[in-house]
Amino acid sequence: MAHDQKKSVLTEQQVAQPTSSKNTLTINDNRTGKQYEIPIENDTIRAMDLRQIKVKDDDFGMMTYDPAFMNTASCKSKITFIDGDKGILRYRGYPIEQLAEKGNYLETAYLIINGELPTKSQFEDWTDNIMKHTLIHENIKKFMDGFHYDAHPMGMLVSTVGALSTFYTDAKNIKDPATRRLQIYRLVGKMPTLAAFAFRHSVGRPYVYPDNDLSYAGNFLNMLWKMTEVKYKVNPVLERALDVLFILHADHEQNCSANAMRSVGSSHVDPYSATAAASAALYGPLHGGANAEVLYMLDEIGSKANIPAFIKTVKEGKGKLMGFGHRIYKNYDPRAKIIKQLADEVFEVTGRNPKLDIALELERIALEDEYFVKRKLYPNVDFYSGLIYQAMGFPVEMFPVLFAIGRTSGWVAQWEELLMDAEQKIARPRQVYLGHGTRDYIMMGKR
Ligand code: CMC
Repeated sequence: MAHDQKKSVLTEQQVAQPTSSKNTLTINDNRTGKQYEIPIENDTIRAMDLRQIKVKDDDFGMMTYDPAFMNTASCKSKITFIDGDKGILRYRGYPIEQLAEKGNYLETAYLIINGELPTKSQFEDWTDNIMKHTLIHENIKKFMDGFHYDAHPMGMLVSTVGALSTFYTDAKNIKDPATRRLQIYRLVGKMPTLAAFAFRHSVGRPYVYPDNDLSYAGNFLNMLWKMTEVKYKVNPVLERALDVLFILHADHEQNCSANAMRSVGSSHVDPYSATAAASAALYGPLHGGANAEVLYMLDEIGSKANIPAFIKTVKEGKGKLMGFGHRIYKNYDPRAKIIKQLADEVFEVTGRNPKLDIALELERIALEDEYFVKRKLYPNVDFYSGLIYQAMGFPVEMFPVLFAIGRTSGWVAQWEELLMDAEQKIARPRQVYLGHGTRDYIMMGKR
């Protein structure tokens, strides 16, 4: 529904008469004795409906204060549903467990972006269009070469995905559906290539071009690991595991990076620049960088015997148990459950990651500890994913890069939903100003 149709229906009343059947909220302003009746829709009130609550006519009006968006819905969305208390995650209504067991990543990307599972021919067209766009412009190799030998691959990814906007100048026509679609093919297609090239640069190996005889995940593994053999043989267990990991990371509603994608996208910049912003958000240790932190933490703990002492330091506030806790999940993260099972299949091929035993014991102890129980801190997606990635041969610096590949479908879906939403405008929060009042400039010599 257009914004105008829904504009403030706030009615100020001297005496409110709420009834139990009314879908409204009555606010009593004790400063003025006035009452306001505010409509409730989808269990929310519109923050703008509060603006008419004033003491004096020339007041700005009431705002909500919500640092870190703890209780603010910034959009309406039909993409991903999470029930954090019950540990439920669904893409477009489909449970993550079913998609991870029966689906594949490109099919899931189609679902997330288009809203429905593809038919066979839709899937073939979709796959063809994405795989057709896996090649990157030759000049991008030159930027890659310019990075220092020990440059973080996530830093390289953030920069090169942003740089794609300079190659595809049509991308700024964000209002044209066909142009948007082309950029979506390009983004989903090129992210693995940028990621693999960043990795090959960091280890000083020649870049491997995409091989479209392979699956999305298989092609990525080929670009990473191919050496001098004529045809690299992709291990089907690892290929499937990586594909499942991409599915698990595909979207997670309004997380930090999706919010960055939407916020930057709301300025109507091209999607490559917005994806660079989203990737930068993902780079942080509290978001996509957390699984690397888990491995550093497991290294620091060193052995099962040291776990109780480590837990004690966490409880004393001297650090966090990385891979635990979530803003939304107050129960076991369903993705962590799937990854834990997947780990066994991967370790059969790669050999068991010796850190697994420490992780399992750490989880067992934490889940019995009152500190974690009381705060509803459970393992999140990152607790076990790093162990799999490491067993597959990825250096920890590549972990957020792998996350970014899977998450690209979610970012572009969130971006397109934002652009299609008539209620959305440029994202621009308010502030509570607590600084100085006006004061006169003092010449430097007199300060
Ligand atoms: N270890 C120890 N204590 C924790 C942890 C943790 N991992 N997470 C939260 N707490 C405590 C926190 O100190 C606070 O305690 P108190 O009430 O005594 O002050 C309480 O639990 C509530 O935590 P919060 O910081 O208010 O929770 P949040 O919603 O702001 O933070 C989080 C969520 C994921 C940033 C946080 O749990 C965390 O830093 N976890 C470790 C990093 C991590 O694993 N991140 C990956 C998240 S999943 C992937 C993704 O979505 O990117």
